[in-house]
Amino acid sequence: MSFKFTTGSYSKNQKPYIMKIRLLIQTVMIIFLSSVLISCSNESGNILTPKPGPEPRINGARIFGVRPGSPFLFTIPATGERPMKYEVLNLPEGLVCDAGTGQISGVINGPGDYLTTIRVTNKSGIDEKQFKISCGENLALTPHMGWNSWYVWENNITDSIMRASADAMVSSGMIDHGYMYINIDDCWAIKPGSKDSGQLGEPRDKNGMVNSNKRFPDMKSLTDYIHSLGLKAGIYTSPGPTTCAGHVGAYQYEEKDIQRFVEWGFDFLKYDWCSYGRVATGDSLPELQKPYIFIHDILKKQNRDIILNLCQYGMGDVWKWGKSVGGQSWRTAGDLGGSFEGIGTALFRDGFDVFTDNDLQKYGGPGGWNDPDYLLIGFLSNWEGQTVPTPLTPDEQYTQVSLWSLQAAPLIFSGDITRLDDFTLSLLTNDEVIEVDQDPLGKPCHRVSKIDDLEIWMKPMEDGSIAAGLFNRGEEETMMTVLWQNLGITGRQKVRDLWRQKDIGNFNKKFSARVASHGVVLIRLWPGNK
Ligand code: GLA
Repeated sequence: MSFKFTTGSYSKNQKPYIMKIRLLIQTVMIIFLSSVLISCSNESGNILTPKPGPEPRINGARIFGVRPGSPFLFTIPATGERPMKYEVLNLPEGLVCDAGTGQISGVINGPGDYLTTIRVTNKSGIDEKQFKISCGENLALTPHMGWNSWYVWENNITDSIMRASADAMVSSGMIDHGYMYINIDDCWAIKPGSKDSGQLGEPRDKNGMVNSNKRFPDMKSLTDYIHSLGLKAGIYTSPGPTTCAGHVGAYQYEEKDIQRFVEWGFDFLKYDWCSYGRVATGDSLPELQKPYIFIHDILKKQNRDIILNLCQYGMGDVWKWGKSVGGQSWRTAGDLGGSFEGIGTALFRDGFDVFTDNDLQKYGGPGGWNDPDYLLIGFLSNWEGQTVPTPLTPDEQYTQVSLWSLQAAPLIFSGDITRLDDFTLSLLTNDEVIEVDQDPLGKPCHRVSKIDDLEIWMKPMEDGSIAAGLFNRGEEETMMTVLWQNLGITGRQKVRDLWRQKDIGNFNKKFSARVASHGVVLIRLWPGNK
């Protein structure tokens, strides 16, 4: 059967009532066809994430690590109509929770696991969730969530952009979904020989303490500001004499630089190999590990928790030893957005193939995560002086966020957070997708089947359910089927569409869905009729 739409013109010899019936039939057909097309359509540009309701919902991590004696800061991420009241039952001694903001702060001196209950109330209802505070040597018990300046601001980053970005993390509501870190990347330090006077100056003071450049007049006041919003602050340097963009690095000043970062109040350090290649004697494993062991030894002496993010592009199979040298995460490949036009190609190469070629699922877990680089969605720098929309198609954007969540990768957005369109925000704030990433079991997904361009990946979740991604790397929309036998399960399973946050139904043996070209269908399966 084929349908033919006419423009609605009709010949004079038709009877008026026949014409009316024809028009009616045409209208009904148009409505019917457009609804069929919408329900079968792929994810192209559609916002699938439902808006949060007025009732309180506690989101984000369910476990958080801190070292004894370090300042503690964790803001309870919760959506719902304001005002909301935040309470934590069984808080360990030394911590308090601000009832109006949900910021938990203080210091815990006694190591141990503290099981608390978070309760959030507003006029529409109440939500309660168990929250474990683990006081010991392990940090980053779930993957980091935050924002990084590099891919949108590169060497144009300033103090005021950082403050505006922190403000935006709050006003956009991202903080209510678990985003926590506001991280400066390269270009805050002095750049000897720079053509830009804002980056010139004395690299260090007379005591050898590193100086920030004029664009960052007062780092302590910047981190105070970020902390006052309930967020944490990150900084960047290199073990080499200069950073990748030619700014002063930490070489031979490591102890002083960490002391400086502690004084300034930073909580996160990206330590980028860059010019260290000129210092290292060869690329043996001990040489690759040396700067990271060295910096970790300094970090662990501080009375402040600073997450260590290793950035050396995967050299020497860093995933095999990143955690043992003290890293809480390690970049698994080169720069995902090194070439603006190449982001799509890099996404599929680094996101899928680097992961499977190296069995990366074996290495990530609580305390140390594979880091395939930032979420390259929203507005990004095109490296030619303009900030433009990501070159990834909407389906590729769903693919990136879904794959990163399944892989338990850090969710660090690096587009313009001060200019979030609704679609980008919807990708970043789907709590059921974030729950996959932040699951306390911390097990990264692995690929369970590949037929040409069609790949199925699964992630075991702490509650015994399974999150699975049906990824279509091909050029045509295709029907994909996931077989229970490939997931290691049997019997009736309840299947939920995570992007739409909707149960699809109960299925036996398999589940099929149409998947858009370069797109994904992300589901979660529970046994029986749960
Ligand atoms: C390297 C890193 C990037 C970024 C730049 C900054 O290329 O891999 O993530 O930090 O340096 O110069």
